[in-house]
Amino acid sequence: MIDYFSVKIKGDKKNSDFFFEYLDEIYKFRKENKIDFNIKNIHHFVVQTKSEFIVPLICEWLMQSPYNYEFSFIHESKRHHVLRFNDQSPDILIQENLSPEEDYIFFQNSLNPKSKVNPNIKFIGEVFEVTDLKKLDEVLTNTQKIKFQNPLPDKFYDDYIHWTNPSIYTHNCIGYKQRPNAQRTYLMDQEWNFDDESKARFKLSKDMFNNLSLNKYVLPIDHFATRIYSHDRELAILEYLTLTNYWFWGAYNIGDQNSSTNVCRNLQGDPESISPAKVFTANNTPAFLSYLDGLPCPTENFVQLYGRRLHHFALGVTDGFIGDESKNYRNVDYVVDQLKNSHMQFLDHVIGSCQEGLKQIFSKKSLHSLLITEYIQRCNEFDGFFTKENVAALTKAAGDDDLIT
Ligand SMILES: [Fe+2]
Repeated sequence: MIDYFSVKIKGDKKNSDFFFEYLDEIYKFRKENKIDFNIKNIHHFVVQTKSEFIVPLICEWLMQSPYNYEFSFIHESKRHHVLRFNDQSPDILIQENLSPEEDYIFFQNSLNPKSKVNPNIKFIGEVFEVTDLKKLDEVLTNTQKIKFQNPLPDKFYDDYIHWTNPSIYTHNCIGYKQRPNAQRTYLMDQEWNFDDESKARFKLSKDMFNNLSLNKYVLPIDHFATRIYSHDRELAILEYLTLTNYWFWGAYNIGDQNSSTNVCRNLQGDPESISPAKVFTANNTPAFLSYLDGLPCPTENFVQLYGRRLHHFALGVTDGFIGDESKNYRNVDYVVDQLKNSHMQFLDHVIGSCQEGLKQIFSKKSLHSLLITEYIQRCNEFDGFFTKENVAALTKAAGDDDLIT
C-alpha cells in the first residue's frame, strides 16, 4: 500500500492551499476507514452508443486495439457487448439503451452544440471491484454523502453494480461491484447474439489487426483522460480521490495552450494497466478571459462543444524499434503507419522522441463513440504520461480538429 503522504507530487501546475488541505484529509479518511483496502481495481469501462453504431464501434476496437469481442447480454433496459484483453485488465462494455425513454445521457448531451447531434453517445464511467460493497456503501452514503442512482438493496445479486449519480464536475459515474468469481462475470437477464454478417465483420477486423502484427506491439488501456471546466479542476480531482483508491500523482501546466494535465494513479496492480491512470484536463483560465490572456483554449472549446466528458483512451505500445536502430523507426511509428494504411485517421504525426522519454499520437475522434484513441510508447521505462511539449502539440492538434469537425 502506498504511503501517500511521503510521495512527492510531480509537476509544476499550482494548486490551492484548499486543495492540499483536503487532499490530506481525504487520504486520512480513506486510511482510517480502510477504503483503500476495500476498493481494488477497475473491473470494466462502459461506453454508450446508439444501436446502429454498435457493430462499427466494435469493429473499430477490434482493428485498432488488442481487445477481443467476447459475448453480449441484456440486463434490464440495456444491451451490453463485452470486449476483453485478458482476465486482469479491465473489460470495455459497449452499451446500447433499449428503452424508448430518454436517459440522463440524452439530457447531458442536449446541453452542448456538438454532443446534441448524437445525444445517445457518451462514456458512462468505470466500475471498481470492491471486497465489501455493503461496508463501502455505508461509508460513502452515510458519512461522505455520496449520492447513488439507487439505494443499495438489502440483498443484492452477485455482480450487482452500485452506480453513483453522474458527477457534476465530470458527468461521469463510478460503479462498484463485488466480484464473486475468479472469472470476470456480469449480471445478466439473458445472453444475446449478433447475426452471422456482424460476426464475420468482427472476424475480419481482428484478422486485420493480427495480420499486420499489431498484436505484438499494442497493449491494453494505459490511461484515460477526461475534460472539464477550469473552475472544476481541483474539485473533480478531490471527488475522484474520495470515490476511489487512486492518488494524486501530479499536474503539469501546458501554458501556451492555456491548459493543465492532472494525473491520478492506482499503482496497486502490476502492470499498472490492471487499473489504468485517470487524467483530468482543464483550461487554466476560463474561455471568456482568453481575449485578455491572448492564448488559445482548445480544452475549454472542447468542453463547450461536447460537454464535460471523456476525451480519449490511450493504448500502450511496447518499447522497441524496428529495423536498424539508427533509423529510429520505433514500434509506435510502425503501428501508426499500419493503421494509416488501413484508413484509420490521425491528428498530426507521432509526437516526441525516445530521447525525451516517449512518443505518442492522437487518432481522429471516432464518429461512433466521440472518443479519440491515443497510442503511447514509453522509452526505456520512462515513468510519465507525457512531456510538456508533446501535450502542447497533441492538445493543439485535437483543438484544431474540434473546430473543423
Ligand atoms: Fe493521454
